[in-house]
Amino acid sequence: MSHATQPLGAPVARREGREKVTGTARYAVEYHPAGRLYGRVVPATVARGRVTAVRTADALAVPGVHTVLTHENAPRLREPDDPVLAVLQNTRVPHRGWPVALVVADSLEAARAGAAAVRVEYESAGHDTVLTWDHPGMYTPETANGGYPAVRERGDAEAALAAAPVTIDATYTLGGLHNHPMEPHASTAWWADGHLTVHDSSQGSTTVRDSLAQAFGVDRDRVTVVSEHVGGGFGSKGTTRPQAVLAAMAARLTGRPVHIALSRRHMPALVGHRAPTIQRVRLGADRDGVLRAVSHEVATQTSRIKEFVEQAAVPARVMYASPHSGTAHRVVALDVPTPSWMRAPGEAPGMYALESAMDELACALGIDPVELRLRNEPAVEPDSGRPFSSRGLAGCLHEGARLFRWYDRDPQPAARQEGRWLLGTGMASATYPVLVSPSAASAHAAPDGSYTVRVNATDIGTGARTVIGQIAAAALGTPQENVRVEIGDSDLPPGSVAGGSSGTASWGSAVHHAATTLAHRLAEGGTVPPEGVTATAGNEKETAASPFARHAFGAHFAEVAVDTHTGEVRVRRMLGVFAAGRILNARTARSQFIGGMTMGLGMALTEGSTMDPLFGDYAEHDLASYHVPVCADVTDLQAHWIDEDDHHLNPMGSKGIGEIGIVGTAAALGNAVRHATGARPRSLPITPDTLL
Ligand code: MOS
Repeated sequence: MSHATQPLGAPVARREGREKVTGTARYAVEYHPAGRLYGRVVPATVARGRVTAVRTADALAVPGVHTVLTHENAPRLREPDDPVLAVLQNTRVPHRGWPVALVVADSLEAARAGAAAVRVEYESAGHDTVLTWDHPGMYTPETANGGYPAVRERGDAEAALAAAPVTIDATYTLGGLHNHPMEPHASTAWWADGHLTVHDSSQGSTTVRDSLAQAFGVDRDRVTVVSEHVGGGFGSKGTTRPQAVLAAMAARLTGRPVHIALSRRHMPALVGHRAPTIQRVRLGADRDGVLRAVSHEVATQTSRIKEFVEQAAVPARVMYASPHSGTAHRVVALDVPTPSWMRAPGEAPGMYALESAMDELACALGIDPVELRLRNEPAVEPDSGRPFSSRGLAGCLHEGARLFRWYDRDPQPAARQEGRWLLGTGMASATYPVLVSPSAASAHAAPDGSYTVRVNATDIGTGARTVIGQIAAAALGTPQENVRVEIGDSDLPPGSVAGGSSGTASWGSAVHHAATTLAHRLAEGGTVPPEGVTATAGNEKETAASPFARHAFGAHFAEVAVDTHTGEVRVRRMLGVFAAGRILNARTARSQFIGGMTMGLGMALTEGSTMDPLFGDYAEHDLASYHVPVCADVTDLQAHWIDEDDHHLNPMGSKGIGEIGIVGTAAALGNAVRHATGARPRSLPITPDTLL
């Protein structure tokens, strides 16, 4: 099919696909301004304490080393809005891996040799890095990540649980997880005539521009941040990261461009991660499976310098009808790196616990797990009483069960064996909120009949450029090849972060409005003047409060084989069905869903960050020990969707698809392991040793 005839929703190929596969797409460290220097972070080797001396003589003697930045000579920052950016400003070490020096050299090799030669002395105090349910210092915060109230109560969950004929009371334990995008965090920075330019691997360069301007005390229009191509982020590049600040500091001190690519070893401590959670879920139900009470309590950790609370109990406010509900988060500040966003923060760990508990309830009642969920479909959003703009969960459950041939299963656990393999199937629901953030866009018509749209969107590998071109082309009534798309530069109209599954809805709304306005102007105005015609627009309408509860939903189905000799779990097939509004590009959407499901497979079976209490550090510092799933782990993985016609979203009718694929996947796999073996996993990852 020619692109000219492709409507919105068609599987249009990525605009930058050829550049990427031929290696000509340039990433943040591939800009080579003349005189570029290389920076290498020296991480703290204690988990709590104070730097008493940084001895730099040996490092400065390494050939090629220019300078060593420490708390003594680094440029002073205005107190950054984000405490994780206040690097080299004082002697405090809030966690192991915190930057205590930066070596700047002519080459990467010299910078590394210099960093190894820096001698740092510490006064260290005993550290505390291990989360427990009733940890001393545990407190109830005001809000959890996303601004959600930390505690919500409706009815009397305790009394309803006590009175319920059937109850489940289970505690699920999740360790830390790290985002580990393929491209490590990297920045190339230089100052020229008081203007700071940074090529940064980020999910939103408008945000990075604003925080650098604030930290360095310069006007926003004196800072340009470019994120042209980004090799993944999964939330870890959604906020400004220390390497951007360090590169800008070193560039200011040396008067030269400075380039910092974080070593994979340095990432676990410096770029955020999914905090560990301990989650207690209690369900009370009648014998027919109708829920009387839902209680979801979360204990989690943050760092000593910043409060970040993984909002894992929030999806329980959305999922199932229940007259009584209690959802609560508690948090404790430990001597650990600051947690942050990792794909579907809140929903991914929270739905692991809730959907595992729902499976436990289904088993206790002898009710099919799909049927149990259908019996608890709410008429309105349970916690708020608001109507849903659309709620596609039941459709996903029905369609998924049909496509997966779910009802072929014998519900009896440990009943299917093939040689040494025990086979089982499991399912779980998924949900993710519809989020929209302020963005602006311009659309320009040239006299030759071509168009250019500009918006500071970021393409983190998702296909943002492509879908923006489709949205503009649809609004302009022109083939998408006729539309140039400029994104990834903070000098463009401001765009929101590529996060919260909100990018397409946020940028796309602004692009749609700008393009529509332009089309009207052109229709009125006759011929296009030599300078062209430009229209600009924001997305104020879409970011205004909605009277509707707006969420995407999904259903996951999985079949696993468990080796009775070794405890190895192999995923034979996974199938997800999603209801996420209108799908705008079938090709890139499918990749997003499958990518999310693959990351959920990792969460279930292979990925884990293990806190070493002796060193106060996550033990996995490379991809040899932090096991991201590889192709051999993913054999038969299918994503399907049900297009929804929802008019309470945005002009495109889209909900957001980046994160829902990871939500519920781990529960579906855990439930399949339980069906295969009869053993109920309550912690992740489900490694062989936990099944023997
Ligand atoms: Mo996503 S964790 O909101 O980048």
